[in-house]
Amino acid sequence: MARRIVITSGKGGVGKTTVCVNLGTIISNIGYRVLLVDGDFGLNNLDIVMGMENKIIYDIFDVLQGRCRARQAVITDFFNDNLSILPATKFVNSRAVMASDILRIIDELDTYFDYILIDCPAGIDQGFVRVLNLASEALVVTTPHISAVRDAEKVINILRNSGYSVLNYVLNRARGDLILSGESLSISSISEFLGINLIGVIPEDDEISNQLMIGGSITKGTDAFYAFRSLANNLAKGKSDIFDCTKKYKGTMGYFRRILRKIV
Ligand SMILES: Nc1ncnc2c1ncn2[C@@H]1O[C@H](COP(=O)(O)OP(=O)(O)O)[C@@H](O)[C@H]1O
Ligand SMILES: [Mg+2]
Repeated sequence: MARRIVITSGKGGVGKTTVCVNLGTIISNIGYRVLLVDGDFGLNNLDIVMGMENKIIYDIFDVLQGRCRARQAVITDFFNDNLSILPATKFVNSRAVMASDILRIIDELDTYFDYILIDCPAGIDQGFVRVLNLASEALVVTTPHISAVRDAEKVINILRNSGYSVLNYVLNRARGDLILSGESLSISSISEFLGINLIGVIPEDDEISNQLMIGGSITKGTDAFYAFRSLANNLAKGKSDIFDCTKKYKGTMGYFRRILRKIV
């Protein structure tokens, strides 16, 4: 049976799709069979971030309409047999997609995968509720901004009330320099406010935004790579290794890096 995890946030643009793609890629490289499900009907973009948009023949709506079987809508990465996506549909009125129908499709695909990561839409309304019954484990993504943290807390309450038993959060776009200078919320204060386990810290890194602009995967050896690798090991292997985004801003060299980052 696959381990199913919804990746959610409440607030849009905080990095759900980024986390879904990079986490899924690393877990698949470890050797697990991973399916990334685009749960965002209408504003789907998982296929684009994965560079697979031209490969789509069938999407989830075709499965719902009986035009193909669930397996036929799954697209496997050209370079990585262990990594596949189930694309959402661009054209349909998303209200036509029922939660129970998506659950049936995911159940059908379950045996082929070790991990099913569901990239949720932003918000806490119908689109989010539709994917809630697909899993009982969630990865809540937030940034260190107060609005994102507050929205994450609302989502956590909904997840708890919906019977979710495993709740972890990822702090994305963390700025080590601002944490050290006290200009960003501290990681401990965010953890205290959210009241769930921190499973990964991903730094604010141009490597990540470039990935979305030009496609491809994160370069090995970068901070972003190490941060996602730690997150993947924590999730898949039960390790507790949180990337230290403040490390490179400590000491004399770190002091100059902080000043430089402020200027540029
Ligand atoms: N850690 C990061 N550092 C730099 N840019 C990031 C980071 N995480 C996400 N981004 C950028 O933020 C934007 C929104 O990310 P995305 O994953 O699409 O958010 P969501 O799926 O929550 O709407 C994208 O342009 C992405 O490249
Ligand atoms: Mg997204």
